[in-house]
Amino acid sequence: MKRFYLLFLSAGLIALPVNAEITAKQTDIMKQLMTKFAEKAKLEAKDPNARGGASKHANKPFSAEIGRELYLKRRTWQDNDYSCSGCHTEDPAKVGKHIQTKKPIKPLAPSVNPERFTDIQKVERNFTEHCMDLYERDCLAYDKGNFISYMMSLK
Ligand code: HEC
Repeated sequence: MKRFYLLFLSAGLIALPVNAEITAKQTDIMKQLMTKFAEKAKLEAKDPNARGGASKHANKPFSAEIGRELYLKRRTWQDNDYSCSGCHTEDPAKVGKHIQTKKPIKPLAPSVNPERFTDIQKVERNFTEHCMDLYERDCLAYDKGNFISYMMSLK
């Protein structure tokens, strides 16, 4: 009985809604981002100086599966493993933990965190900063589009 009450109490304190869905606002912002990344990916694919083989991805539709691979891909640097999932955890619906500061990071998945992907500038800024942190360069628009597809596919 005591245990039951404890469970009951803690459930009341957790602010994250259960069975949440991606809100209309998040869908709108993520669609805007995808349109923008799709246009940019076309330009990148045509650029003769494009790095990272952007031309290989010309006219390919974004893929949630490839976005997931990017999210989990590890890069070893100075004996540490770095990846998006390093801070945001392998399940983006879970609370993350910063690899350096150890501070908790609210879940990235829009389906469980209605605050995510509601501000285009914030998404773009975080995206670029985190790609720079991991790869010392911004990610391709193609990678970003795949990543957003992955986020939209999460239940
Ligand atoms: C070193 C830790 C760390 C790594 C590695 C990391 N992130 Fe983040 N990420 C954070 C923190 C901290 C925030 C900000 C949390 C906040 O303000 O709510 C964040 C927020 C974001 C956001 C903002 C979403 C929103 O609208 O609120 C995006 C997008 C994002 N990260 C994508 C990525 C991607 C893609 C990668 C891999 C290329 C990555 N992150 C790797 C720590 C990290």
